[in-house]
Amino acid sequence: MAMAQSLAPSSSSAARAARPKARRAVPSRVVAGTAAATGESARRLVAAFDPAIPLASAVTPPSGWYTDPEFLQLELDRVFLRGWQAVGHVGQVKNPNDFFTGRLGNVEFVICRDANGELHAFHNVCRHHASLLACGSGQKTCFQCPYHGWTYGLDGILLKATRISGIKNFNKNDFGLIPIKVATWGPFVLARFDDSSQNTVNDVVGDEWLGSASDLLSRSGIDTTSLPHICRREYIIECNWKVFCDNYLDGGYHVPYAHGALASGLQLQSYETSTYERVSIQRCESAPPEQEDIDRLGTKATYAFVYPNFMINRYGPWMDTNLAVPLDATRCKVVFDYFLDESLLDDQNFVDRSLKDSEQVQMEDIALCEGVQRGLESAAYSVGRYAPSVEMAMHHFHCLLHDNLSG
Ligand code: FES
Ligand SMILES: [Fe+2]
Repeated sequence: MAMAQSLAPSSSSAARAARPKARRAVPSRVVAGTAAATGESARRLVAAFDPAIPLASAVTPPSGWYTDPEFLQLELDRVFLRGWQAVGHVGQVKNPNDFFTGRLGNVEFVICRDANGELHAFHNVCRHHASLLACGSGQKTCFQCPYHGWTYGLDGILLKATRISGIKNFNKNDFGLIPIKVATWGPFVLARFDDSSQNTVNDVVGDEWLGSASDLLSRSGIDTTSLPHICRREYIIECNWKVFCDNYLDGGYHVPYAHGALASGLQLQSYETSTYERVSIQRCESAPPEQEDIDRLGTKATYAFVYPNFMINRYGPWMDTNLAVPLDATRCKVVFDYFLDESLLDDQNFVDRSLKDSEQVQMEDIALCEGVQRGLESAAYSVGRYAPSVEMAMHHFHCLLHDNLSG
């Protein structure tokens, strides 16, 4: 659950090294025993979950939601490539000429700030022969294609098409980079892949992205741009992206069993969950710190899940975010960004200790998620049940997915 991820900042490379890799002898959909997936089978899987059944009587979505490549394709089309998606934080594009790249499904994108300070997003694909254009992140005054040198401004305009003398019916103005709609909310950069208009929408994006939870999250200190970014940690996890989200959304259910060290810092009986249109918020009070140590967890932690795949955790002086990006049906990348109150920036000991504690929680969650994925791929499992008093945010997540996927 949220707390599992957030309360303990983490560090990934050691974790990855220590983690045994789940190996599969055969592709997951064969292991799952399903028929060859088709669009029709994905739609049948969607229909196999009934959001109208109350939580106490409901069964969970079938395992095919977590194993079927066609189901993931439907999710990409209907969920990820529609509406606002978190793609990064404003510190990555703080200065003119800053840029970063990313991928969601088959969409390759680049986010950049031009010399005039204006934020842009484009498909990161050269208009000549489709080479990827920019790579990684950093600073550039223009994007020069590594293949044949076509060069674009950070405003997307094609500045130079090399060696095109003799070309006919070609207008450089028609060959700029294809735009993607981009906006910021607090410290977060958001993109809409179903909309290429470039009008500024920062004033309305909070409502569009977060709905009625927007004000509450602002009051919880989640929209602050004043917390410096400390570090980013990335984990490749051998599980469907929703397994990671489900783990976050179980209302602290797994904490006493899976996160012994973390459980001692929380008052799990204080756990409360509220759901909004596309957001669920879990809150938990912390146990008082044992010594005069700085309290890493603060007095109350807020764990906000923003549908479909973004988690914002605010506790004590820390904020961290977790973005669960699907790589394929049974693998995801989870990106953690850590932000810290400025007053503690120089306390390297506190920072190191917090990140180490978080890493411990991440490793525990990764082992859980990879174990669940293997269980989902077993012929022994088809559907499960919800614990009604704690897993309401998870049920809310599944209902939102069902609504998007069947729409
Ligand atoms: S593919 Fe980019 S210049 Fe040729
Ligand atoms: Fe956890």
